[in-house]
Amino acid sequence: MSSYEPNSAIVVLNDSKEYKALDKKSGGVISSVCGLKSLATKDNGEVVISFPSKINVDAIIVVKTDAVTGNDWRNFGGKLAKQWKSRVDNLYFEINNDFNESIYEGAHLALYTFDKYKSKKDTETLTVHIDAVPEVSIHKSVSFARDLVSEPGNVLYPETYANIIGSKLMPLGVTVKVYHEAQLKAMGFDLLLSVGQGSRRDSYVVVMEWNGGDDERPIALVGKGVTFDTGGISIKPSAGMGDMKFDMGGSAAVVGAMHAIAAQNIQANVVGIVGLVENMPDGNAIKPGDIVTSLSGQTVENLNTDAEGRLVLADILTYVQTEYDPDRIIDLATLTGAIIVSLGHEMAGLFTNSTEFGNDIIEGGELAGESYWRMPMGKNWNKMIDSKIADMKNIGGKGGGSTTAAEFLYRFVDKDRNWAHLDIAGMAWNESGNDVVPGGAVGFGVRTLVNTVLISNDVRPIDEDMKY
Ligand code: BES
Ligand code: MN
Ligand code: ZN
Repeated sequence: MSSYEPNSAIVVLNDSKEYKALDKKSGGVISSVCGLKSLATKDNGEVVISFPSKINVDAIIVVKTDAVTGNDWRNFGGKLAKQWKSRVDNLYFEINNDFNESIYEGAHLALYTFDKYKSKKDTETLTVHIDAVPEVSIHKSVSFARDLVSEPGNVLYPETYANIIGSKLMPLGVTVKVYHEAQLKAMGFDLLLSVGQGSRRDSYVVVMEWNGGDDERPIALVGKGVTFDTGGISIKPSAGMGDMKFDMGGSAAVVGAMHAIAAQNIQANVVGIVGLVENMPDGNAIKPGDIVTSLSGQTVENLNTDAEGRLVLADILTYVQTEYDPDRIIDLATLTGAIIVSLGHEMAGLFTNSTEFGNDIIEGGELAGESYWRMPMGKNWNKMIDSKIADMKNIGGKGGGSTTAAEFLYRFVDKDRNWAHLDIAGMAWNESGNDVVPGGAVGFGVRTLVNTVLISNDVRPIDEDMKY
């Protein structure tokens, strides 16, 4: 801590040796202003000293903190970066503990901005200085996912989305395969295509292959990429419909995770797949009551064109299993409003056929500060999507809407594979923000997926009661 840039503040813990060294340098000024007593009386135990003698910085922020876990330290970094962004150009964290990377990550997650459509740009910048800056920080992948989620539907639609994926991931060594509508038609993706058939925009499927492992079977990451969801002919109410630009949040998590996995050169085989469609009402749109044959051969009666995400996922689930034979599959989707009724904006819903695999994901999420709650599944819910005239319908009964949606997906999963479905409808967007989200797109799931790929390299037993 010898020299600091101008317009700087230093963050230091009240009981650290860095604090003592700084205090000594200031000739005891710091400790005379903030003894432990006064620290305890302030909010968050934070004391700010301006212009201390002998140290050429604008402020020293002495903090008493209860932070223990990586999550606490990530939030700590985020909170301080937010508070000081408009006040100084440089923030020095003189905190030598094992959590420097968490602090760094949190600060950068908090400093994210999306101002490309603002004539007046956000000119406040904050450079974070810390020991042990990670070589590749995952915040860049999260920012990428947030950018995708933030883009409006007129800019990010299936074709432009597919192009962005290719141009961002191919330089990192990811093999990107883009399938356009004519190819998908020939390949039999009729269920996915039925969602996009009312749109002037073509539908796309993008596959991302990362072969960082040996010859083991890959883990598959599957994402719903509805670039805009009007509901189709079963049109949504106009109030709040603009939110539905984030209906591609599941796919953004997959794309962001593939970005991070490649940037970090992770030693695993991972295949990402996203179904990119726009759900619009139109003369050519699918109508309630229409029956469509899926890629799997199973037929689906579409009784509500707003239950479209499951249709998109069904075909890409089938494809990824036949083409890549993954032993574990995680799909992510802003799938149901019902999951928001259940869990609000605190946790995502987790549905799985393997308790142990689900626990891997919960653990990966916990490390990321992203929470999941295991939701129930079962035969009786599955029956609720039986159709009188087709193999199934795309909506269930009155209640349990998130579970019947999961049961629909489960009909497209081979029974010997570890599978988990994450319903992130309540988590993809956070209007008011928190310590590590400035407000808006969250990039939810990116860090969970990367952690889970690192944690879970084993096939897990399928639960007995999920063998149906
Ligand atoms: N994309 C929506 C779910 C959603 C709602 C995501 C709110 C984020 C916030 C999904 O396609 C949808 O419309 N689901 C319907 C299903 C219903 C018709 C069975 C829903 O939840 O109302
Ligand atoms: Mn919908
Ligand atoms: Zn949707």
